[in-house]
Amino acid sequence: MKYAFPDNFWWGSASSAPQTEGETLAFGKSATIWDRWFAEQPTRFHHGVGPQHTSTFYQHWKQDIALLKELNHNTFRTSISWARLIPQGRGEVNQEAVKFYNQVFDELHAQGITPFINLFHFDMPMVMQERGGWESRDVVTAYAEYAQTCFELFGDRVKHWFTFNEPVVPVEGGYLYDFHYPNVVDFRRAATVAYHTMLAHSLAVKAYHERHDGGEIGIILNLTPSYPRSQNPADVKAANIADLLFNRSFLDPALRGEYPKELVALLREYDQLPACQPEDKALLASGVVDLLGINYYQPRRIKCRDSQVNPDSPFMPEWFFEAYDMPGRKMNPYRGWEIYEQGIYDILTNLRENYNNPRCYISENGMGVENERRFDENGQIQDEYRIDFVSDHLKWLHKGISEGSNCLGYHMWTFIDNWSWCNAYKNRYGFVSLDLATQKRTIKKSGEWFRETAAKNGFDD
Ligand code: NOJ
Repeated sequence: MKYAFPDNFWWGSASSAPQTEGETLAFGKSATIWDRWFAEQPTRFHHGVGPQHTSTFYQHWKQDIALLKELNHNTFRTSISWARLIPQGRGEVNQEAVKFYNQVFDELHAQGITPFINLFHFDMPMVMQERGGWESRDVVTAYAEYAQTCFELFGDRVKHWFTFNEPVVPVEGGYLYDFHYPNVVDFRRAATVAYHTMLAHSLAVKAYHERHDGGEIGIILNLTPSYPRSQNPADVKAANIADLLFNRSFLDPALRGEYPKELVALLREYDQLPACQPEDKALLASGVVDLLGINYYQPRRIKCRDSQVNPDSPFMPEWFFEAYDMPGRKMNPYRGWEIYEQGIYDILTNLRENYNNPRCYISENGMGVENERRFDENGQIQDEYRIDFVSDHLKWLHKGISEGSNCLGYHMWTFIDNWSWCNAYKNRYGFVSLDLATQKRTIKKSGEWFRETAAKNGFDD
């Protein structure tokens, strides 16, 4: 069968400043929470490899953009580093950073690749974290100033902006489950962080729309369809609560400009609502996006709790549900994540049926492989499993589009094997392999497959 995608479909990949640039404390950049955490606790990082060990995009940007071109990308997402552009978080702009990002955006255009630029990818400047991070409304204001600075400096060449990548992740990692700095475990503080993130998002969207400069602005959300173990009402309710907490607490403000009433009621019932100001409601209403980026990796399988929760234990999402290890589900043998291709279609269907079919694209999808070493005699990784992974997801995406979903493109995570937070290089995701010692780049077999697919705007199977 032939899987042909619509004309002008966006074929590309996604990456981020903190995972690729390197030069973490050079050329005027100040520390982010990652630099600080690594300095304090290097053993939390796989093999003790910290944020300075990247594919050094700061030096290799031209070579890497040439590779993107070779892989037939017509679009590419990366992010701007707030700590590089405005090292004190507010105020003076670092001209070295302006020069760097100008070169990158100009070169992307010169190669016919449209830049998709995200403003925040888990990389809170340490100076801002010291002022309370997302718990502080001052930081929300500072972020809005930073966003406006980016629009002013680069808005002539960047026409596709994103306010945040996966905003739920710093909430879960930093304030609930201890896998990001500042390693707090406290639901109420997590709820405040989530809420302030969406206020910051809304301020940036509002400011961008007021500029009327012909571009568009969105947000990138990692959506995890929540499937109940059974149709038993207790399981359905548990899955619904997981959906409210992890998906709809970002999706609804981004697409409807307000929070789901059920979420507000739930948090009120358990006395976990963050403090609101009277003007917040109108601000949230102006945060509705032009474009939604969807990161999809795996769903959540949910069951109701088998045992009663101890009412004296701290309030956590797990009061309501447990993860369900569904028998027979397909797992990525190289990394313990479920592979469920239909999830991509289910997300698109939900958006079509319940959110008025927004303009969207798949902003990340990809397969992490631990210890990826299947080299051939020429040193090329033979990653047929990744080709299967991408093509199987594209088939479901194709079905969603043929049923009317307004999905405009597909970006793979990621272009080149990159540093991945605490996992560092444990799981490799790229179309291009990276030899960290020599910085040599080699296109993997999947990269060649993608090059063909993008050129033909689809594939046969
Ligand atoms: C999503 C995140 O945006 C990215 O930073 C991360 O490395 C990938 N998922 C892979 O886990």
